Amino acid sequence: MTTIGIIGAGHIGSQVARKAVEAGYDVVISNSRGPETLADLVAELGPKARAATPAEAAASGDVAVVTVPLKSYRDIPVEPLAGKVVIDTNNYYWERDGRIPALDEGEATTSGLLQEHLPQSKVAKGFNHIAAAQITTDGTPAGTANRRALATASDFADAADFVVRLYDDFGFDTVNIGPLDESWRVERDRPAYVVRQNAVELAENLARAPRTI
Ligand SMILES: NC(=O)c1ccc[n+]([C@@H]2O[C@H](COP(=O)([O-])OP(=O)(O)OC[C@H]3O[C@@H](n4cnc5c(N)ncnc54)[C@H](OP(=O)(O)O)[C@@H]3O)[C@@H](O)[C@H]2O)c1
Repeated sequence: MTTIGIIGAGHIGSQVARKAVEAGYDVVISNSRGPETLADLVAELGPKARAATPAEAAASGDVAVVTVPLKSYRDIPVEPLAGKVVIDTNNYYWERDGRIPALDEGEATTSGLLQEHLPQSKVAKGFNHIAAAQITTDGTPAGTANRRALATASDFADAADFVVRLYDDFGFDTVNIGPLDESWRVERDRPAYVVRQNAVELAENLARAPRTI
């Protein structure tokens, strides 16, 4: 079974871990303070999960999820993620992350920054426009009428394909935006950001997104 290495064990990381274990994946999860601080979470997750350092989680994962505050993206270990699909949940909150002029001016994307930091990895945007709590509550089986849809974007087809599969395992349809250069369409405060929408509605919201806010 596929092992998902998760870097960041907060609101999103813990929820992705819960849903991944439920869907049959193995999980290695990490945070900034050390694996011993994740004892309660891994006890809850059960035998398919263990806690590790970020470097160990990156090395153990067949794929990885990066879900730390954007200001910390340069801390993500590079070498153990080479060649791997890396799902990026990050959003830009300048109030938390400090000003990043390339994002303010619409010259970069949050996931593009991570892709630059991880040049040998295959970054795909994922889970950035759903509230953490809803990851475990809003999924429904494939084919359900009005099924909630989530967006992805990647410069690598196999990375986007993995996100499509993972979303489906978690109970969501996918709209693939295309390359990371277009992923601003689902960034903070755009029409598709953290609202419940099906695939048709999500595609419409992505299409009408303004480049800068
Ligand atoms: N919350 C949401 O509903 C939501 C929804 C969509 C997207 N997002 C985005 O997803 C990202 C994560 O959000 P969150 O709400 O899950 O954040 P959070 O609850 O603050 O959790 C952040 C996690 O990242 C870890 N971390 C911080 N710096 C690190 C580093 N240098 N190396 C390894 N781990 C580090 C923290 O570890 P410690 O606990 O040890 O400090 C913590 O486990 C953010 O970019 C956020 O904007 C959030």
